[in-house]
Amino acid sequence: MPRRALIAGNWKMHKTAAKAKLLAEQLAAAGQNATDRDILLAPPFTALSAVEEGVRGSGIIVAGQNVCWEEQGAFTGEISPVMLKDLGATAAIVGHSERRQIFGETDTMINRRLRGALHQGLTMVLCIGETLDERESGDTLAILERQVRSGLAEVSSAQMASVVIAYEPVWAIGTGKTATAGQAQDAHGFIRSLVSDLYEKDIGNSVRILYGGSVKPANIDELMAQPDIDGALVGGASLDAESFGRIINYK
Ligand code: PGA
Repeated sequence: MPRRALIAGNWKMHKTAAKAKLLAEQLAAAGQNATDRDILLAPPFTALSAVEEGVRGSGIIVAGQNVCWEEQGAFTGEISPVMLKDLGATAAIVGHSERRQIFGETDTMINRRLRGALHQGLTMVLCIGETLDERESGDTLAILERQVRSGLAEVSSAQMASVVIAYEPVWAIGTGKTATAGQAQDAHGFIRSLVSDLYEKDIGNSVRILYGGSVKPANIDELMAQPDIDGALVGGASLDAESFGRIINYK
C-alpha cells in the first residue's frame, strides 16, 4: 500500500490564540481539495483549543509540540497526553532539535515522552537529525541510528502504526539552507532500512518519514518526488496561509 503523505506545520512559539485560529481557518480552506494527504498543525499549547475550533470538520490533525510521559503530577511546566486530548489534539511532536539543544532533552527523555503518549493513543512525530559538525565529521548516519534506536526503544510493532519519523538536519532548520533532495533521500532511505531491521520489512515500508528544514513552496515539489520522503515538517513557511497553502497542495 502506498504511504499516505503528511504535511505538518510546526508553529513553534508563534501566534496568540486569535491569530492561530484565523490561520487555521485559512489553512482548512486551502487544504479542502488535498484529500489524498494528511495535514497536521502544531500550534503552541495555548492555541490548541482555538486551532481545533478553526479546523473542525476539515480532517486536519491538531498536535502538541511536545508532551509529558505522565498523565498528571508534579511536573511543573509540562503538559500531559490527557490534557492534549482534552483540547482536541490527537498527535504530538517529540525530540525537536530545539528541545534537544536549547532545553537539554535527552534521548532517554524523548523516548519516555514518545512511549507515554503512544500509550494514551496519540500519533507521534519523532524528530531526529544531525548538526553541521556531526555532518562534517562524517557522523550523520551514526547519529541518526542512535536517535532512532533510542527514540523507539521499547516501542512495539503494533505501536509503530502510530509513529511518524521526521528527519530534520539541524543545519537546515530556520537557516534557509535545505538539504538537497538527494541528501534528504539518502538519509530517509537509511532510516527506513534501519526501521526494517529493528522491526520487520513491512513496518519499514509503511512508516512515514517526513523531511524538515527550510521547506518552502519553492522546494516542496522536488522533495516530495523522492521515493522515501513521505511528507514535510515545516516551521517558518507554515506561519503564512499563502506559503503553507502552497506546500499543502504540493504536486
Ligand atoms: P523551518 O523549521 O521550516 O523553519 O526550517 C522546521 C522545523 O524546525 O520543524
